[in-house]
Amino acid sequence: MPLHEETTAQPDVSSLPILVAAGTSGETAELARLLQSLGYSGVTAVNGPAPVPPAEVGASYRLVVLGLTNPLGTGLDTIALIRKRLPAAALPILVVSQALDGPAKRSALRAGANDFLTLPMDGDEWSLRTRNLLLMSDQYHAALNDKDQLRVELQTRSSRLRMLIENGLLMARTHDRTSLLRHTLFEGQRLIACDAASVYLVTPQGTLRFAMRTRDDALAQEEIPLYDPDTGAPDTHYVSTWCALHQQSILVDDVTSETRFDLSGTRRFDAHSGYRTVSLLTVPMAPRKGEVLGVLQFINKLDPATGRVIPFPSELVPLVEALAAQAAVALDNLGLLDERRASMESLIRTIATAIDAKSPYTARHSERVPELALMLAEAAHAEPLGPLATFGFHTDDEWHEFRVGAWLHDCGKITTPEHVIDKATKLETIYNRIHEIRTRFEVLWRDAEIERLQALAAGDDVTAVETRCAAQKARLQDDFAFIAQCNLGSENLSQAHRDRIQQIGATAWLRHFDDRLGLAEEELARREREPLRTLPATEFLLADQPHHVIVRGLADLPDADMGFKLDMPDHAYNHGEIYNLSILRGTLTPEDRYKINEHMTHGITMLERMPFPKSLRRVPEYAGTHHETLLGTGYPRKLGAADLSVPARIMMIADIFEALTATDRPYKKPKPLSEALHILHTLKHKGHIDADIFDLFLTSGVYLRYASKYLAASQIDAIDIQRYLGPVPVPQ
Ligand SMILES: [Fe+2]
Ligand SMILES: [Fe+2]
Repeated sequence: MPLHEETTAQPDVSSLPILVAAGTSGETAELARLLQSLGYSGVTAVNGPAPVPPAEVGASYRLVVLGLTNPLGTGLDTIALIRKRLPAAALPILVVSQALDGPAKRSALRAGANDFLTLPMDGDEWSLRTRNLLLMSDQYHAALNDKDQLRVELQTRSSRLRMLIENGLLMARTHDRTSLLRHTLFEGQRLIACDAASVYLVTPQGTLRFAMRTRDDALAQEEIPLYDPDTGAPDTHYVSTWCALHQQSILVDDVTSETRFDLSGTRRFDAHSGYRTVSLLTVPMAPRKGEVLGVLQFINKLDPATGRVIPFPSELVPLVEALAAQAAVALDNLGLLDERRASMESLIRTIATAIDAKSPYTARHSERVPELALMLAEAAHAEPLGPLATFGFHTDDEWHEFRVGAWLHDCGKITTPEHVIDKATKLETIYNRIHEIRTRFEVLWRDAEIERLQALAAGDDVTAVETRCAAQKARLQDDFAFIAQCNLGSENLSQAHRDRIQQIGATAWLRHFDDRLGLAEEELARREREPLRTLPATEFLLADQPHHVIVRGLADLPDADMGFKLDMPDHAYNHGEIYNLSILRGTLTPEDRYKINEHMTHGITMLERMPFPKSLRRVPEYAGTHHETLLGTGYPRKLGAADLSVPARIMMIADIFEALTATDRPYKKPKPLSEALHILHTLKHKGHIDADIFDLFLTSGVYLRYASKYLAASQIDAIDIQRYLGPVPVPQ
């Protein structure tokens, strides 16, 4: 129900009739005539034998002139009946009688009569008594009317206050700009009882854009510049721009006769839409001491009694300004929230991009995993039936939270040394140490040559010397080729291979130089764990030496209360040459692998310590579970199926599929789609990944949409997805 600024109209008591019901019809007629002669035109004379029903004697009269024997019944009963319903001042009773004795007068007064007169009437006295009683009644009703008006005014004001408070609370809870504007317009329209409302918003280009209207008619598309594009001067020709630029409200009583402003736009809009704008109230939306954000315009104030369009009363302006200020503060807050979200999103993307840029091994991984994860989440969200039917992100915040989690899923890699992420050969540390070892082979080659020359100089048998030297050189070439091949880590090593590494490594050579010169403090400290040897010192072609071991510092230990269950090797690194060359497959030692897996412990620790807002509280979960498995064999927490949510399971598949199919990793051929799906299918069968989400990945076509966007055409081979679908057989 609209709140009106008008009070409820009270009846004018002076227009009510005077009821005359004397003892006889003759007396009644006489009294009525007398009253009329005194100027009281509204007189109702009750004659005849039928008494007037008591219900009719009430507030609809201004004065009752009553005969003690009268058609209303016995006079005293009638007086008592009236008094039961109305006080003496509300409806005075003047008793008239041919002969009233003292007891009769007292009885009449006790019953509630205000005054009495004896017939025949004295004109002056009759006039005086009647006038006094009417004056008392009029004053009573006037006072009552004032009280009513006050009460209605109080009610209106408290309703408005309540509405403003409720409005403020609702606006504070609204996180959506459109809902906020819609609410402001409709509440404003309701509050001031007008026919329509519009809002214009200030654009970053310095124009006012028509943003919303309560009526369903189409919005005007043009924007109104706040400043003249040529001169830069403020453009105050229009009501809306004047209001925005001066931050002041404007009332227009009648658009047709308005001369202060150019209202051609309003008229044009009316002509186009068929609407007729008459009165306007335009108020700025500006947070306190802030820049104006827009303009609210209320159109065609309606008279609550007649429904006619009337001008907006000026006393409405402060109320509407309060509403506009509330809306402006709420809009400003939303703007701040948007800015905070945008800067956070940008920071997160910067971190992810920095991680991707850090290593060609993970190039664009942090960017593509969210793409794929969101595609899969959308497919799962849209599933109406089956095990994923209950999954869904229901608000923008929930989608945002998942996106942020996906973007940050490998944020811990910021701590992983490049030489570990990029470790392309077994001997690689900051550089590939095969060169150092090849130099030792060069030394041994020259030792063989020196030995040959010395033997020849000593007169040894030439053929024997040459043969021995050639054999030594051939063995060195062969050994080096073998070590170099082992260094690549492309094949599995057998025990025989490992024995041969040991055997080759045992070849001795003489070192003539101090190996502690030119070392930095830390490296020198590691060397000092070994006894100082006199030169020339015997060295070996390959060795695992104490200085190859990098001890794990206290700072490298994960927090005990984080619940990590990674198997931690004793040392941070072991650069032992034989140790590294003997890696069975690949290029990573257990220490290197731990260092890589540590990106999860570092990532989770960083994220769980970040003071995320409530809307992002699940980011650490979404980011921190992609290396877990449903079997509880993953890392870093060995979580099981019960701990892994649908979004977490989506992340697991997205992370693996991106890594398998990425086209831009060095030293690695991207896998064709069929092979990547085959690997994922194997993981599904082993129970590592979620079977339903993997099936959805295929049936929804997400795998193909992702592939056509990010994979090379040559990778997209023919696939029969049917063979990958269906439940996983339960092991017998
Ligand atoms: Fe990861
Ligand atoms: Fe990843």
